[in-house]
Amino acid sequence: MRMVDLIQKKRDGHELTTEEINYIVQGYTDGSVPDYQVSAFLMATYFQGMSEKERADLTMAMVESGDQIDLSAIEGVKVDKHSTGGVGDTTTLVLGPLVAAAGVPVAKMSGRGLGHTGGTIDKLEAIDGFHVEITSEQFIDLVNKNKIAVIGQSGNLTPADKKLYALRDVTATVNSIPLIASSIMSKKIAAGADAIVLDVKTGAGAFMKTLEDSRELAEAMVRIGNNVGRKTMAVISDMSQPLGFAIGNALEVKEAIDTLKGEGPEDLTELCLVLGSQMVYAAGGASSLEEAREHLVKVIENGEALKKFKVFLEAQGGDGSLVDDPSKLPQAKYKIELPAKEDGYVSEIVADHVGTAAMWLGAGRATKESEIDLAVGLMLNKKIGDEVKAGDSLVTIYSNQESIDQVKEELYRSILLSKDKVDAPPLVHEEITE
Ligand code: URA
Ligand code: CA
Repeated sequence: MRMVDLIQKKRDGHELTTEEINYIVQGYTDGSVPDYQVSAFLMATYFQGMSEKERADLTMAMVESGDQIDLSAIEGVKVDKHSTGGVGDTTTLVLGPLVAAAGVPVAKMSGRGLGHTGGTIDKLEAIDGFHVEITSEQFIDLVNKNKIAVIGQSGNLTPADKKLYALRDVTATVNSIPLIASSIMSKKIAAGADAIVLDVKTGAGAFMKTLEDSRELAEAMVRIGNNVGRKTMAVISDMSQPLGFAIGNALEVKEAIDTLKGEGPEDLTELCLVLGSQMVYAAGGASSLEEAREHLVKVIENGEALKKFKVFLEAQGGDGSLVDDPSKLPQAKYKIELPAKEDGYVSEIVADHVGTAAMWLGAGRATKESEIDLAVGLMLNKKIGDEVKAGDSLVTIYSNQESIDQVKEELYRSILLSKDKVDAPPLVHEEITE
């Protein structure tokens, strides 16, 4: 096989075979196919797209390029959730215990990540003593016993995706649905998921800005998953404002506890019930989405979901008493209100800017080496559609610095007010279940 022929074949709009896609992915991973030829191939793909079969083949070629996590020693269908990203997205912290309390195993491998706030592991480390440095054997035992455990990312997963993503970044080929969809799906499958639930965000604060693009991406991923034998479903959810009220590590843990108690923000609670229902249903834990939802509502109401969170924390060294007394979480020195400058209705909360403000406070990492301040962050006091009087607090800022003018300016830029009444946006735009 010659790479130049495969580039030409894709350029001219023909379908590549499984062997041809394997040749490209393996060759790029081991260095025998050079960057310049893969660049040309990516650009041809950008313009010509990929058939359903090519997308599935590309996904599996990337899965097979590195280690694959074997979760077969865990009983039951292992379901994983992926979100295309958001600011202050507390859903993972809530969904783990919630779905586990409904009897579905949650075997979560998680990273630290760069960004506005920490990754799931950083958030959990706001809990005194909690750690993810456990062996694979301990991890599997804990999931079998408690239905939930979290382990730090290890192994060399999807090296082909890492290399291709870096190349796409510098060749203007990131924004291609088949390439994005196969990239995301390959990582979930390599991490051992039997079933996958996708939360595809849409709106100003999201990777996909329009509903049409978000739907296309969601459908592409659902097809790939089902074509490679993983039951996959998706929710398209709104990101024209951050989810819930809390943005920051300890603040989000507190918000997750409230939500597991049934006292959380309405939007966060609803999205967790929608995603959680898909997870339980996809794992075979209920015969319909409605039945799954009823079960989840029940474990919130009867306290099982909260109890599961406590069991999970204690099993990994954490101080479980903090579930009953969240004041034991790291606390910031200063609590500063951000007053509205005029009357009006909140019309937009630009998630990116709010995230940047949280990062300046120290809630997130700007570089891999940065230290996260677990105590700091923001609590939104108003959401889209809320009426505001001049002087009302828009946001409570939890800070360890007294002078935070830059953070305040960023927040004023991110929370837009309108003179006219504004409706709250719908939270769940669509569900894709087949
Ligand atoms: N996120 C990914 O993991 N891959 C992409 O290609 C785009 C976003
Ligand atoms: Ca939140």
